[in-house]
Amino acid sequence: APNAIATIKLNNKEYVTDDYTNVTPKILSYLNRNLHLKKDNPLSLVRQRIVNYFYSSFTHRGNPTFSVYENLSPVVTTKQNFDDLLIPENHPSRTKSDCYYINRKTLLRAHMTAHQSELLRSGLDNFLMIGDVYRRDEIDSTHFPVFHQIDAVRSQRKEQLFQDFPDLELFEPTFDPQNPHIFTNSIKDPNKQSCHTLEATKLMEAQLKNHLIGLVQTLFGDNIKHRWVEAYFPFTHPSWELEIFYENNWLEVLGCGIVRNEILANAGPNNTIAYAFGLGLERIAMALYKIPDIRLMWSKDSGFLSQFEDKALNERITYKPVSSYPQCVNDISFWLPPNLTIDTFTSNDFYDLVRDVGGDIIEQVKLKDKFVHPKSKKHSLCYSIIYRHLERTLKQAEVNEVHKEIEKAAVKAFNVIIR
Ligand code: PHE
Repeated sequence: APNAIATIKLNNKEYVTDDYTNVTPKILSYLNRNLHLKKDNPLSLVRQRIVNYFYSSFTHRGNPTFSVYENLSPVVTTKQNFDDLLIPENHPSRTKSDCYYINRKTLLRAHMTAHQSELLRSGLDNFLMIGDVYRRDEIDSTHFPVFHQIDAVRSQRKEQLFQDFPDLELFEPTFDPQNPHIFTNSIKDPNKQSCHTLEATKLMEAQLKNHLIGLVQTLFGDNIKHRWVEAYFPFTHPSWELEIFYENNWLEVLGCGIVRNEILANAGPNNTIAYAFGLGLERIAMALYKIPDIRLMWSKDSGFLSQFEDKALNERITYKPVSSYPQCVNDISFWLPPNLTIDTFTSNDFYDLVRDVGGDIIEQVKLKDKFVHPKSKKHSLCYSIIYRHLERTLKQAEVNEVHKEIEKAAVKAFNVIIR
């Protein structure tokens, strides 16, 4: 059509493209996968463990202190991703070579911190934000253009912050415990924001570091070695990165700091001091479960996912490599004979039969569906049988043959009728 305007449609909204557009169909295909919410994905296990830590460690009158946001759209404005966070106009993190832009004003969020200001503005003071983030980066076993972060904000009023005074030695000699303050008139000190008192900064820093060390100890055990590295972020000061010592390397797992007061002054809550952090879920999951390649997080292969399915949150899981040859999945459905119901049929008997007939090319059998016909009251079961040879690619035709044999054997052994 003449004068056609090129647009990109995402979640039922149309975006007009322009000279900034650099997002590719491949990248857009990762939207809405929501790996962090899939129950058998390792990222979801890590998410639940971190949320539980914050839920159980911080309560107020029996309720969790932190509210959790894990369904925020990854399509954000440059205001959300940069301006609201005081990231300057010429900052390298804004460049087209680092971000996936939909157009000049719209991009796929490059960090979960993009939602900090809007949630503060909505009146929240303690919250976690969890989701997928998008960055143009190198390609290797630990980098993927899409990954997942948990970000947090915790803000404190004067009464909360100075509840109990731990270490008076950290404070300036002018500190008066009877009349503590978060704010001061511009005492310059590179270790704090000029509007903050040193004691408020130190108390918030102590909370931040204690809470995050508590978190990595909960995840990795009390003996995990860690170190704090000074860092710079436009939206926090002072700022740090936390590294853990893992398999003979220092591994950076998060960035954090004291929220710049301009952000709280713009968005609220007033008269508070806050900490914030942002933590990468892939790093944690790869270290925790010994997953060697970040691409595995995106695997739909049940040989991978089943290793993380139905697990207790703190169960120790060590990833075992799956074959590189492809799976074939065939379903089998049958009516049970009148003497059996969907509750009395023994799945394990069926599993043994499948293994007897199929041998080593059977990788997994999963109960897919149970069904009672509303009129005939007949009971029916459906199983998925997942076939995979460990040394070669199976042909669909040979799988179909084995599958037929399994059907025949099931008819004979259990008196079922194949549907
Ligand atoms: N957004 C930062 C990043 O993605 C992490 C961060 C969050 C740092 C909040 C400080 C405060 O690297």
